Amino acid sequence: MTSYTELGLANTRELFKKAMAGGYAIPAYNFNNMEQIQAIIQACVETKSPVILQVSSGARKYANQTILRNMARAAVEYANELGHDIPIVLHLDHGDTFELCKDCIETGFSSVMIDGSHFSYEENVALTRKVCEFAHSQKDYVTVEGELGILAGVEDDVSSEHSHYTEPEEVIDFVNKTKVDSLAISIGTSHGRAKFKPEQCTRDANGILIPPPLRFDILEEIEKKIPGFPIVLHGASSVPVEYVAMIEKFGGKLSDSVGIPEEQLRRAAKSAVCKINIDSDGRLAMTAMLRKVFTEKPDEFDPRKYLGPARDELKKLYMHKNTNVLGSAGQA
Ligand code: G3H
Ligand code: 13P
Ligand code: ZN
Repeated sequence: MTSYTELGLANTRELFKKAMAGGYAIPAYNFNNMEQIQAIIQACVETKSPVILQVSSGARKYANQTILRNMARAAVEYANELGHDIPIVLHLDHGDTFELCKDCIETGFSSVMIDGSHFSYEENVALTRKVCEFAHSQKDYVTVEGELGILAGVEDDVSSEHSHYTEPEEVIDFVNKTKVDSLAISIGTSHGRAKFKPEQCTRDANGILIPPPLRFDILEEIEKKIPGFPIVLHGASSVPVEYVAMIEKFGGKLSDSVGIPEEQLRRAAKSAVCKINIDSDGRLAMTAMLRKVFTEKPDEFDPRKYLGPARDELKKLYMHKNTNVLGSAGQA
């Protein structure tokens, strides 16, 4: 049994309180390897931003849970070494069973998501409540994120053909019965780099896909039902056209890519949305730079010479997010 406090980590409670009062959102960036965690910590230290490090089930399978947990511990020391302590949360992204959440809590995670959104409402309530009871009874309080509503696309192993927006009518009951600390909602975002079908979008003069706007009306209804309660936005990558163009220029093929415009994320960050999840944009940044290096330097075979530039591009992206989109820069 390892408590997250032994690793120097924080839960989300105080961070969300401050984010709510300050009108900004905490970045939640996924990581699977050393270069990603270096980029996240460098960017968040340089911009003085709190950060949530997210681990998915896929990341656990890929990198090994012991390695990931110790990378989070190393991240705390690394931030300190870089000269500015920032609050760092280690969070399970899309936990799908009580056992997985329990295992993470017992091995040093300070926060977990239990994603029961694909179950019936009653089953979602029961599962989420069970995780909360366990997480909240720990010596060091572990925070829990629940989800109501279904995002379109693929949520880890769970695929949902169609999205179901969160029902504002359900949120009070869900929060009261489960005792969750934050709630992920569905208002039009989805995971991955192709968030909408082309037929759902319009095109600008250059043929670039313009997505339909997020359902801010639903968000506002939810805010009225549970005032001051922290809301989480999944699937919040913007899918920058520059990265898609760079990947395609250097041999990739990513047709029909479209994300959530930054302007809409800025608006969300000022609302009750306290946590914004971004993974796909990081994948695009790294892929774009890797393709560029491989094309321009075909004789390069030292991993440091291609992973290094990919890491630097990732850091640049995260600094931009913290400073210009989420508003978390300067808050740590
Ligand atoms: O929500 C999904 C995240 O982007 C994590 O993706 O399951 O491929 O690690 P993953
Ligand atoms: P994106 O695929 O939009 O980056 O969303 C990531 C996410 O929600 C992780 O939980
Ligand atoms: Zn997600």
